[in-house]
Amino acid sequence: MDIAGSAALVTGAASGLGAATAAALAARGATVYGLDLDKAVAAAGPLPEGVTLLAADVTEEEPVREALARIEADGAELRLAVNCAGIAPSARVLGRKGPHDLDLFRTVLNVNLLGTFNVMRLAAEAIARQEPDENGQRGLVVNTASIAAFEGQVGQIAYAASKAGVAGMTVTAARDLAQFGIRVVTVAPGIVDTPMMAGFSEEIRAGLAASVTFPQRLARPDEYARLVTMIAEHDYLNGETIRMDGALRMAAR
Ligand SMILES: NC(=O)c1ccc[n+]([C@@H]2O[C@H](COP(=O)([O-])OP(=O)(O)OC[C@H]3O[C@@H](n4cnc5c(N)ncnc54)[C@H](O)[C@@H]3O)[C@@H](O)[C@H]2O)c1
Repeated sequence: MDIAGSAALVTGAASGLGAATAAALAARGATVYGLDLDKAVAAAGPLPEGVTLLAADVTEEEPVREALARIEADGAELRLAVNCAGIAPSARVLGRKGPHDLDLFRTVLNVNLLGTFNVMRLAAEAIARQEPDENGQRGLVVNTASIAAFEGQVGQIAYAASKAGVAGMTVTAARDLAQFGIRVVTVAPGIVDTPMMAGFSEEIRAGLAASVTFPQRLARPDEYARLVTMIAEHDYLNGETIRMDGALRMAAR
């Protein structure tokens, strides 16, 4: 599909992978609408040209519908939705203070899995209204899982479950949306140097980098963004979860 001239919706666009993706898509000529939480939108610095940031919680229906209505009202043709919004709190199934908090588990599933699904279903409805290209394609949804979907570490039970859910939706969503000419691809990053990782000490970050097979460093957000543009431009990629991890296979801790 052509990125230039299309509108793109990117969630979690105030930070990390979402911000890098919004910038990369805008640089390639897309009109980008980023969604993020109120406080993240308020705190965001200057945005690249072609990027508009709107406040919306991905777990809610109305704000996401309002953002999509705004895109339509602007006369922009939505063809691409990229789900980057996510959270990664840590807790074990059974820890020193007792069993995993049920509300924390619910929250992680709500943001990472239900939020991704919510945006995918509503964006798909909007993309389905566009004219198909000469190959019958209307657009694409890219979701973000994590290699924790396959090898979640100690303390990642809720995160791993949510990301396995995102990976698990991929084929069935691609099948559901095929009749509308919409592809669905999931990216499962390894460790990317974003604010989500900023909480770790230099020592831990160095240890994480050393655990990567090659290249022995954390991935950069622009490498994730480049993968999204590659997926967008490659019409035969569909229904697949692509690892972007430097051959990292996570150890238990
Ligand atoms: N950084 C990594 O190493 C890594 C690895 C694998 C997967 N991922 C996944 O990539 C995605 C992006 O991660 P990141 O590293 O850029 O994190 P980040 O914390 O830098 O950015 C996440 C953004 O999502 C937003 N967000 C959170 N909850 C939201 C909600 N309910 N509604 C709207 N926006 C919300 C946050 O405000 C933030 O701006 C996440 O899904 C994360 O799980 C990250």
